[in-house]
Amino acid sequence: MMLRIEVRNSYSTDVDPVLAFLDAHRHPNHIDRHRDLIAAQVEARRFIIMQGHRDSDGPKRSLLGVAGLFPHQRTLTSAEYGAEPPWRELGSTRIILNGFGLHKLAIAARVADDLALNPGAEAQFSVLRDHDIVATATHITAGFTPWTPPPDLANYWARDCNVVAASDAHGLVGFQFLALPRVAATQLINYLLRCNVPDFMLIRPASRRHGAAQAAKLTLTLDCMRTHRKELELLSQVDVIHGRLQSVQALGERGGII
Ligand SMILES: CC(C)(COP(=O)(O)OP(=O)(O)OC[C@H]1O[C@@H](n2cnc3c(N)ncnc32)[C@H](O)[C@@H]1OP(=O)(O)O)[C@@H](O)C(=O)NCCC(=O)NCCS
Repeated sequence: MMLRIEVRNSYSTDVDPVLAFLDAHRHPNHIDRHRDLIAAQVEARRFIIMQGHRDSDGPKRSLLGVAGLFPHQRTLTSAEYGAEPPWRELGSTRIILNGFGLHKLAIAARVADDLALNPGAEAQFSVLRDHDIVATATHITAGFTPWTPPPDLANYWARDCNVVAASDAHGLVGFQFLALPRVAATQLINYLLRCNVPDFMLIRPASRRHGAAQAAKLTLTLDCMRTHRKELELLSQVDVIHGRLQSVQALGERGGII
């Protein structure tokens, strides 16, 4: 029977299930974070929830993965800059149904939500353990590049995650910061919009790690798609327009059309 996977924003009723899921599926590469910070972002609908079911399961849904977004203030004490927290971290990701590409999907969903609903971030970034090859591979595929965080951000991050680590000029030793260039966000939103068709198929190829090939039907029910579809379409076109301008300019320089 076909597996159906739903990817959606969190509700406040997800707080306990998300915390229980993270407790039940501890992993050495998963960076712990204070529980009240996780709860606050789940309530704010900034977590992406991945759940699955088969028709034979009836209404029962099982949690397959969770992935959070954490805004970081510029100062600890006040909103002296008045604006939205400028840094947005993709964090607290844990996925237990592997091989379907759910990690990249969860990255794209958080980036799209953030750009459409709260535009203006100075950086969308992730922090990974230096040796975390799988998550690094997915981030590189999604377009992230190495990034040196401002020192105050690195300090707040370490405090939020209870990390006591030596720091050097480039950040925190043992961790890597990766940020998403704007042009790569455009590609990710394109990818997300392509997945947002009825019964989009996610294919897990046969592999030594995951066993036989498997297919699943995807349903995306994301806030940004419901309420900010136009903005997403514009965001997904930015590099197309940029590309066109560049080629027009190149043709113009060569004496072609303009
Ligand atoms: C990291 C994690 C979220 C990935 O979940 P996932 O999307 O189901 O992972 P997948 O199995 O689909 O693999 C993701 C990518 O890593 C690649 N990959 C997997 N194992 C790899 C390995 N040993 N070496 C290199 N690349 C590898 C896959 O090929 C895939 O890349 P692709 O999308 O370009 O094909 C999940 O394994 C997890 O929860 N790990 C523990 C917690 C953690 O590390 N969180 C990360 C903090 S962001």
